Amino acid sequence: MKILMVCLGNICRSPIAEGVLQSKLGSDFIVDSAGTGDWHVGQKPDERAIAVSKKYGINISNLRARQIQTQDFDEFDLIFVMNQANYADVLSLAKTKEHREKVQMILKNEQNVPDPYFGDDEGFEEVFKLLDEVTDEVVNQLKSK
Ligand code: 4NP
Repeated sequence: MKILMVCLGNICRSPIAEGVLQSKLGSDFIVDSAGTGDWHVGQKPDERAIAVSKKYGINISNLRARQIQTQDFDEFDLIFVMNQANYADVLSLAKTKEHREKVQMILKNEQNVPDPYFGDDEGFEEVFKLLDEVTDEVVNQLKSK
């Protein structure tokens, strides 16, 4: 089972989501992340994303940003997006119904994981907590299959 986490830049939300979910699932699952945008390709996660993850025992410093590509729809079983803009952008790249059906908002009721990039450390703390909670639900969803 392969799961892809997607946000805009792939340096704040989706690398945290990748690190947290991978730590909960272990090596039977492959978790990766990507951005819809290409501005940060090749970069490490934002220092604040690295710091908040480290605080909770997760090392994401070895991740490097990449942009989502059409091939990802074949490669991954599930694609989680952080907000409605990501959802629209990712769906616009999907070519088939099967590909579209792999894409889900990570939070329920069309809620968005807030973009912490232009905020402060507290925003990263909030994002980490949200992603920690919701990935528990993702784990339950995967284990009940
Ligand atoms: P992310 O955060 O999508 O959670 O990685 C952002 C990173 C960079 C930018 C925006 C959001 N940016 O505008 O460069």
